[in-house]
Amino acid sequence: MFSIAVINQKGGVGKTTTVANLGQALAAAGCDVCLVDLDPQSHLTLHFGIEPGATRTSIYDVLTDRADIRSAILPVADRLWLVPSEIDLAAAEVELAATVGREQILRDSLREPPLPQKLVLIDCPPSLGLLTLNALAAADEVMIPLQPHFLALHGLGKLLETVGLVQRRINPVLRVAGVILCMYETGTRLAAEVVADLRAFLQAARHLDCPWNRTRIFRSIIRRNIKLAECPSHGKTIFQYDSSSRGAADYAALADEFAACYPDLIPAQSAAEAEPIRTPARPAAYNPAQAPPIVPVRRPRESTEP
Ligand SMILES: Nc1ncnc2c1ncn2[C@@H]1O[C@H](COP(=O)(O)OP(=O)(O)O)[C@@H](O)[C@H]1O
Ligand SMILES: [Mg+2]
Repeated sequence: MFSIAVINQKGGVGKTTTVANLGQALAAAGCDVCLVDLDPQSHLTLHFGIEPGATRTSIYDVLTDRADIRSAILPVADRLWLVPSEIDLAAAEVELAATVGREQILRDSLREPPLPQKLVLIDCPPSLGLLTLNALAAADEVMIPLQPHFLALHGLGKLLETVGLVQRRINPVLRVAGVILCMYETGTRLAAEVVADLRAFLQAARHLDCPWNRTRIFRSIIRRNIKLAECPSHGKTIFQYDSSSRGAADYAALADEFAACYPDLIPAQSAAEAEPIRTPARPAAYNPAQAPPIVPVRRPRESTEP
């Protein structure tokens, strides 16, 4: 079992969307994936059409020692499982205040004994509190979804500082594997400038002894696409909701790149066989001049954007 914490203390940057859709794409490519919803807002749980609090057990019961994590795991698709969240999780930080080793509860529950799935993706809340510390203590690696706009790098320093602290004190193997550029506005100068700054920052860390000295920026960027914003309200991943959308193409490309970086997790052969979620060629960058005309649609929640 290999675990990755998807973190950024900023909300609305694409953490949950990435965990749901990258997880689904990797599962379809032949990897057994378990997703853990560690956010009391339960957006990942909702993304799979599961009502928070309606399940018998949740990650809250696991962290407060009321249940084994195995009793909370739900199958949500072929090769894909979810440990759901619920609003009570917000109280866990207070409830655990006096518990010795409270940062390591998730790690112990995932590893003793290890979950049977090959990959665990942990969707973190938008804070650097106890829940995120539990994710960092449990994870082998960190991935950071980042929306490239003004101030994006501002919060990154604090985030990396926290990762460094956890790595030194609790989890020596912890590395920052990559940054995923989400909600990317193609063609804007600001996005390109932020990415150039990020690249320079990571380059400067190459010779330092820190967990982000080998961090890659994934080449597969996730462009802003309304279909990605629509699919959670239908309880579907982008591949079930609109497999021909730009959002599906971007997450499929990210999954391909991920698979190439982690050959032990996703066998190349089964990645190549994974026809159902692969969209044909990756569409060219969005060009408003070539966009189809807007036509009225019957269902108001769905747009006509490709
Ligand atoms: N690439 C994208 N294009 C358009 N909307 C997106 C994209 N990625 C995420 N969203 C939407 O933006 C909002 C925030 O994304 P989310 O993944 O929930 O962020 P986080 O988990 O970091 O708070 C959600 O409504 C989501 O559906
Ligand atoms: Mg989220």
